Amino acid sequence: MTTSHCFSRPQGLTALLLLALALAAPLARAFELPPLPYAHNALAPVVDEQTMQIHHGKHHKAYVDNLNAAVAKEPALQGKSLEDLLAGISRLPPAVRNNGGGHWNHTFFWASMKPPGQGGAPSAPLLAAIDRDFGSLDAFKAAFKTAGTGRFGSGWVWLILTVDGKLQITSTPNQDNPLMDVVTERGIPLLGNDVWEHAYYLQYQNRRADYLEAWWQVVDWQAVSSRYAAAAK
Ligand SMILES: [Fe+2]
Repeated sequence: MTTSHCFSRPQGLTALLLLALALAAPLARAFELPPLPYAHNALAPVVDEQTMQIHHGKHHKAYVDNLNAAVAKEPALQGKSLEDLLAGISRLPPAVRNNGGGHWNHTFFWASMKPPGQGGAPSAPLLAAIDRDFGSLDAFKAAFKTAGTGRFGSGWVWLILTVDGKLQITSTPNQDNPLMDVVTERGIPLLGNDVWEHAYYLQYQNRRADYLEAWWQVVDWQAVSSRYAAAAK
């Protein structure tokens, strides 16, 4: 009996733990932190290695973890795509808005950059649209920088394609983005830059304008051009 009791309680606990893990596993797997598409030091000297480690491994991971925790409390949301959640975000809890936006925005952000000098140039169709809607590539970059420096507090600056086929620069606070139904200036994001201090403060301190200026060196224009081609169809 003694032996039996010695083994039955741990086995019972183990079974309960396994059951809890089995129940939790589908939720924990719902959204996952994507690996960076390059090494943490690949964007240096524009973005330093430590910033990338903290930004991806701590900040982005926290958005993913907190999004999964928020969705776990809402059975009706489980199994929905992130884009579906964002499109109806006005009806969802703030934790889904903040962390769902954080997860989408950062995933998009990592895929918008390449090591310095490897991002290529805008495609001919994208450059033509930039010339049409902003006057020139330099004018577009200047307006994008102005939008980034003008964002008070934390947020993002975007290049979007609107429903009427125009390119537009917008900015959103916190982790909002142009896919959310709470945002006035909606559209298909083609490019986005993170102007939260966590994105640049270790290297640039309070010099957000310098970060915005240097950031063009790591923009992946091939990715932006592909997004434009897909969105313009
Ligand atoms: Fe960020």
